[in-house]
Amino acid sequence: MNNTPFFLINTNKIDDLLSDMRRELESKWPKAIIGYSFKTNNLPWIIKYMKDKGVWAETVSSDEYNLALELGFSADKIIFNGPVKDKATFLYAVENNSVVNIDSKREINWVLELDEVKRALVKVGLRVNFCIEDYCPGESQCGSDDGRFGFSYENGELEEALSVLEKHGVKVSGLHLHCSSKTRSLYIYRAIAKIAAEISSKYALDLDYVDVGGGFFGGVVGKPSFKDYFEVIHAELSNCDRLKNTNVIIEPGMSLIGASVDYYTSVVDVKNTKNNHFVITDGSRTHIDPLMRKSAYTYHIEGGKDEAVDNQIICGFTCMEGDRFFKYDGKRLQEGDKIVFEKVGAYTMGLSPQFIEFYPAVYAAIGDEIVEARPKVDAKKFVNINK
Ligand SMILES: Cc1ncc(COP(=O)(O)O)c(C=O)c1O
Repeated sequence: MNNTPFFLINTNKIDDLLSDMRRELESKWPKAIIGYSFKTNNLPWIIKYMKDKGVWAETVSSDEYNLALELGFSADKIIFNGPVKDKATFLYAVENNSVVNIDSKREINWVLELDEVKRALVKVGLRVNFCIEDYCPGESQCGSDDGRFGFSYENGELEEALSVLEKHGVKVSGLHLHCSSKTRSLYIYRAIAKIAAEISSKYALDLDYVDVGGGFFGGVVGKPSFKDYFEVIHAELSNCDRLKNTNVIIEPGMSLIGASVDYYTSVVDVKNTKNNHFVITDGSRTHIDPLMRKSAYTYHIEGGKDEAVDNQIICGFTCMEGDRFFKYDGKRLQEGDKIVFEKVGAYTMGLSPQFIEFYPAVYAAIGDEIVEARPKVDAKKFVNINK
């Protein structure tokens, strides 16, 4: 584990977060389902780790669905969401008892093409589109431009979907209401639960589950806890006669894996220019901030000389000038010092490009033991993947 850069998964952290989440969730809904959001970090080692802990798979494409099968999930432990499922995988999932949340009209048509006997046997969920901005002003990701997933509650498309399915004898067994937000606040989940209650009452739905999606904070000081989230959701759902005994599904990603992964880099050079003082590392923003949006990092430094230097610009290895992490006023950094970026497990590895350097290694700490979760991709592997 000497060759930086690499990621290090802290399995103790995953275990703590998962057991806290599970305890709080099951205290409200004893049969609640936790589906790990593959998109948040799709490293097979991490997915298998979650599976071994009894977590289901939450997938949003046919590739992700097939990855779940490949990694040994049985179909009835896979949640299948997303607008771009292919027909064959969709029908396989529906007929093999996956939790399938329909997101588009063509999926409805595919179910309606089944013969009457099959239609009577299958169950599907519907993804609800509603204007979260009306309930939580300033908190939603799209504002008044609306999110694009699911069937609109407000304009009647949801009602139409429900009635077409009912008319053809297809049981709608669940509602899926994930909303990505800027704030991950309790208000978002109160609104989700409120809308679920309103819809199930208005259309007299007899649901097996309400899927509230992901988007939670996980173990972040000063932010809502799992207990806070589930209390808010429970307060709304238990107030609704139709949902009192309905099961709940959650789809955590960030809240389980975000804080559980660190990224280790080393200083390879320090150079002064006319106006600046650069610290070049063997890491890159492309690995931990692939969308180049972060304005701050949580990190610690191993090494450095006591003498302090202002304005040390910590940079990555790529040729992009924008590959600069942050400005550091502190101990003078020098070749060989380590900069460890913390809490970088979510939306990093899965979004990373193979740009200039191929994928770095990933290790996992299990107690005192370190195992390799993914070897570094070398030139040979890179050629094999791409031929
Ligand atoms: C449908 C769905 N479920 C779950 C998640 C996971 O969210 P997070 O990683 O923020 O927990 C997402 C993320 O966008 C999502 O779209």
